[in-house]
Amino acid sequence: MRTLRPLLSSLVTLCVIASNLSAQSASSGHPLMDAERERRIDELLARMTVAEKVGQLNQYSNTFDLTGPPPDDGEAGRRYERIREGRVGSMLNVTGAEATRSAQQLAVEGSRLGIPLLFGLDVIHGYRTMFPIPLAETASWDLEAIRASARVAAREAAAAGIQWTFAPMVDIGRDARWGRVMEGAGEDPYLGSLVAAARVRGFQGDDLADLSSIAATAKHFAGYGFAEAGREYNTVDVGTATLWNTILPPFQAAVGAGVASVMNGFNVLDGIPVTASAYLQRDVLKGDWGFPGFVVSDWQSILEMTTHGVAEDPAAAARLALSAGSDMDMESDAYRAHLERLIESGAVDEALLDDAVRRVLRVKFALGLFDDPYRYSDPEREADLLLSPEHLALARDVARKSIVLLKNQDRLLPLPPEGRSIAVIGALAADKDAPLGSWRAQAIPNSAVSLLEGVEAAVGAGTTVSYAEGYKLGIGQRSFIQDLALDAEDRSGFAEAVRVAAGADVVVMALGEEAFQSGEARSVADLTLKGQQEALLREVLAVNPNVVVVLMNGRPLAIPWVAEHAPAIVEAWHLGSEAGHAIAEVLFGAHNPSGKLPVSFPRVTGQVPIYYNHFNTGRPVDPGTVFWSHYTDAPNEPLYPFGYGLSYTTFSYSNVRADRSEVSPDGQVTISVDVRNTGDRSGSDVAQLYIRDVVGSRARPVRELKGFERVELDPGEATTVHFTVRAQDLAFYTARGVWDVEPGEFVAFVGGDSTATERTSFHVR
Ligand code: BGC
Repeated sequence: MRTLRPLLSSLVTLCVIASNLSAQSASSGHPLMDAERERRIDELLARMTVAEKVGQLNQYSNTFDLTGPPPDDGEAGRRYERIREGRVGSMLNVTGAEATRSAQQLAVEGSRLGIPLLFGLDVIHGYRTMFPIPLAETASWDLEAIRASARVAAREAAAAGIQWTFAPMVDIGRDARWGRVMEGAGEDPYLGSLVAAARVRGFQGDDLADLSSIAATAKHFAGYGFAEAGREYNTVDVGTATLWNTILPPFQAAVGAGVASVMNGFNVLDGIPVTASAYLQRDVLKGDWGFPGFVVSDWQSILEMTTHGVAEDPAAAARLALSAGSDMDMESDAYRAHLERLIESGAVDEALLDDAVRRVLRVKFALGLFDDPYRYSDPEREADLLLSPEHLALARDVARKSIVLLKNQDRLLPLPPEGRSIAVIGALAADKDAPLGSWRAQAIPNSAVSLLEGVEAAVGAGTTVSYAEGYKLGIGQRSFIQDLALDAEDRSGFAEAVRVAAGADVVVMALGEEAFQSGEARSVADLTLKGQQEALLREVLAVNPNVVVVLMNGRPLAIPWVAEHAPAIVEAWHLGSEAGHAIAEVLFGAHNPSGKLPVSFPRVTGQVPIYYNHFNTGRPVDPGTVFWSHYTDAPNEPLYPFGYGLSYTTFSYSNVRADRSEVSPDGQVTISVDVRNTGDRSGSDVAQLYIRDVVGSRARPVRELKGFERVELDPGEATTVHFTVRAQDLAFYTARGVWDVEPGEFVAFVGGDSTATERTSFHVR
């Protein structure tokens, strides 16, 4: 094997060179590509030793106080020295203008070539000003709001010395057991692709060198969201159709939007750890898609290849990862420790190393770090921008747009702001931390406007608001790194909550999850409400039927009893810094809710993965016997479908029509629908177009989202919405293994959610 290695590595190199050539042609015009910059990179590369090159690919997390005296012992001391030796290219988790400046000084003034460090952080839904978690934000179906939220996150992070975020996470999430569904855009690849591109544009702006822009990362490439049984870090085993039609489109959209980096993942895909997947990273991403940026590994995902059992030791893991196109090593220390020797021995070709370093340097140049390495670390800008009134106002706007009204029996909502007594019940209602959500960057703990505060601020003098805790929150709920120990038995607060509820005209009751009940490593096997929450709701409903349930959660929950018995349900997710104010706007009607679910809500956990764009199966309908595709103990349908969300008014959809019955493969068709506000309030709805490809060379989903548009209508007002669909938008990964549109019949459905029945059809020739 040893003698074969140089030969193999030369073959790999040839492939890299070939993929680079195609990448260069495909990526001309990409924001990272610039002839003068490439020339400067050539010059720099020529001056670098192998050790210095390897250094650019090494990323450490912050482990010591960067603003104090140098640590003099142990690993911290070694890392400090390595920055000065030019053996570190990037750091994560160094935050704040002061600390980033100090670390930068070590690299720029201490190392031989003075190459600046790149500072990365998980800026997922805000830096200090918290926006709704990404899943919630997607419920706005408002791409401009989503872009603007990422823009603010970038502006704040950039002022605090961060030049690079590990976001957006563009993994499709069909399984709510997986805790990271909170971090993505839900279950749909079309919506997910648009959101991915909007987030990349938000973080990166028009120009990466702009001081309010940071480099974005599309992650986790690829398949991480399809972990078996929803268990974190678990095996992923999907076929090529799912990979290409469902998982990859949002990544391709992010690349199309100019994303500067891509992160691979912890998972295996078809038995290969994606960190070692040359197919994904070299052939698809850098080859076919012409991606000119760099790939960063996930946290120690290179080292974890030894526990996956595909590398005998860290050196082998380093060889596999670099050969496969993982450019930067996050925290494994495997590149730093082994690459130099692997290159000397010929096991890894230096051309691969050069390619990886070039990609990292490209991003550093594009961010302007070679012009001024300290430009991002600006204490004054940091003090001015973080939590600025303008940022908080935008956070509130995005939060209100993200709220989804799930139920409103007998128009219990909106509540009149005057002349009532309101009981606010549930520990989550007074909690100022839960709304900040998981992955909260530099949010100040307990800094969100709570639901209780929001209600108190919104009511007039004639309304009394009383509060009771009712159920207990979990122990350890503030911790990002510990498991939660839920206080499952404690009902000591029930009597007081029931008393307060009984004495009020209306009850607003918060149910759901704390901040860290979802997020990384927060998989659950049971999607029902934890602890005593539902038990308390039963007792409260027994004394007061006017209960508005406000859900605060990072994932879809299975709440069939709540859905049946609570007269009103507001899905308020984890909405960020301004959560309470935004929810109060909806409760009291200052804002007419308009969000739509980006994920299906199951009735029972056993239904997951559940998603609207599934295949038909050979036996989709009840033939009157038991032999059809169903559960014997639960319906097939979700509790709330994808795209669903109510308003304080109502809308009708009619007269769906196509402007032609035949479309050529390079042509387009316009689908139109008349939408009317049939209620008595102004409001907005998201008109959604779904298309079914009736016969394909592979089984095709029962329907797929292909367009949406928000309409705002006054009572009685009507409008016509036109969706233009190019035949090419109907392309998919066919049985021939190519991306193509196949001829045949297509049925279009338009309506206010994914169960829309108004339809028309057309043919692609
Ligand atoms: C996560 C990544 C994240 C990284 C750095 C990992 O555990 O999977 O998404 O960017 O940590 O914090």
